Amino acid sequence: MQWNEGTEGSTARARLHGDVAERPDVGGESDLRRRRTPGFPLFKLRGMDAQTHSDAAADPELTGQHGVQREPHATGPTTAAGARTAGGTRPDLTGGTRPDLAGGTLPDFSLGGTLTVGRLGFGTGGLVGPGYWGPRHADPARSLAVLRRAVDRGVTLIDTADNYGPDVAEELVARALHPYPDGLVIATKGGVVRTGPDVWHVAGRPEDLRAMCDASLRRLKTDTIDLYQLHRLDPDVPMAEQLGTLVELQQAGKIRHIGLDSIGAAELTRARELAPIASVQNRYNVLDRASEDVLELCERTGTAFLPWFPLGHGTLVGRPGGSGGPKGRSGASASASASASATDALTTIAAAHGATTGQIALAWLLHHSPALLPTPGTGSPDHLDENLAAERIALTEAELTWLDGLGTVAG
Ligand SMILES: NC(=O)c1ccc[n+]([C@@H]2O[C@H](COP(=O)([O-])OP(=O)(O)OC[C@H]3O[C@@H](n4cnc5c(N)ncnc54)[C@H](OP(=O)(O)O)[C@@H]3O)[C@@H](O)[C@H]2O)c1
Repeated sequence: MQWNEGTEGSTARARLHGDVAERPDVGGESDLRRRRTPGFPLFKLRGMDAQTHSDAAADPELTGQHGVQREPHATGPTTAAGARTAGGTRPDLTGGTRPDLAGGTLPDFSLGGTLTVGRLGFGTGGLVGPGYWGPRHADPARSLAVLRRAVDRGVTLIDTADNYGPDVAEELVARALHPYPDGLVIATKGGVVRTGPDVWHVAGRPEDLRAMCDASLRRLKTDTIDLYQLHRLDPDVPMAEQLGTLVELQQAGKIRHIGLDSIGAAELTRARELAPIASVQNRYNVLDRASEDVLELCERTGTAFLPWFPLGHGTLVGRPGGSGGPKGRSGASASASASASATDALTTIAAAHGATTGQIALAWLLHHSPALLPTPGTGSPDHLDENLAAERIALTEAELTWLDGLGTVAG
């Protein structure tokens, strides 16, 4: 596609017993192709134990707050998820096929029942500076090029937020991609005000949300935001007021679909009684499974689950300093030996596929649930290409089972 604006053209089950994982044979023939039949979302039923949702707030995007900010909304007690069983009727989460996109074999997702998106999106967190403050690259052309490359490579879902920068990420999205090509879905967020690097507070009063939405519309140069996510519930404002405001914005045609962020299963259940919720965005990755109960609810209700930190904010690509894992389902930090087991699994499986550990982490998300729509963030075109190639990796049952087991290491 030609872009007009800007300076660029465009073991069998390897359970972890305590901290020690058995290593299954990996790299065998995958049965993925058989399971990837049109209209049958690749979907693995998992007998998961009950768990609680916790620690949804510990991320660099919204941590390091000082003084002015309130704590991120407590996710609150969640209903025990109970065992995942094969008993429930699962909605058809897929839309049409998308054979042209990178790899192109995964069924698409129907967001809110009206917008068809590919399963692997792009997050703009990598286009802003440390503490989500300012631009990542001094030369905006570098960020514009990454955004355009993502779309040229078939990405149909871009995740951003008004406070990334602030304003910076949304402005980059508009500058790089407006006028938006048909089929490109832009998701942004409001409800959080960032006043410095890693300094932020929630702001969920109706007048706040209305003003933020209008500002995002202006920055994104659009009349309607495809997916508007409440970045955090404001604990000082009734949920009904916050969601009521979003419903009003929806009725006014300013937003197409409503999403929630860092939310527990009980809250999501309540929220669904108040508004049509098209998506959830919680921290989640192969080693950080605190939101498994929320994912289960999303699957049952046809709600998209955008996992933030799909790469553990770098941890899963071997980059020190990421804060996304290893974690157990409880969100507790894993022990050193559990980390070693996780590293063993990821590197072993990666080697079997000639892939990177990050690609395996993304492939696992894509296999794990048809409701998962990862939006890994990067400011690098090479990393972008690498991440998108994960869609073509077909993990074997044994590999999936081994990776599934990693999420049970702590609790
Ligand atoms: N709702 C929320 O509260 C929330 C919180 C955090 C994030 N998010 C959203 O979720 C998206 C993803 O989260 P995230 O970007 O923070 O974390 P992430 O995707 O888990 O990891 C991003 C980190 O991994 C590195 N990386 C990415 N691809 C790589 C590759 N192929 N090889 C080596 N390193 C690679 C990036 O550095 P390089 O740029 O150098 O590649 C960056 O440091 C964000 O962009 C944002 O849209 C939402």
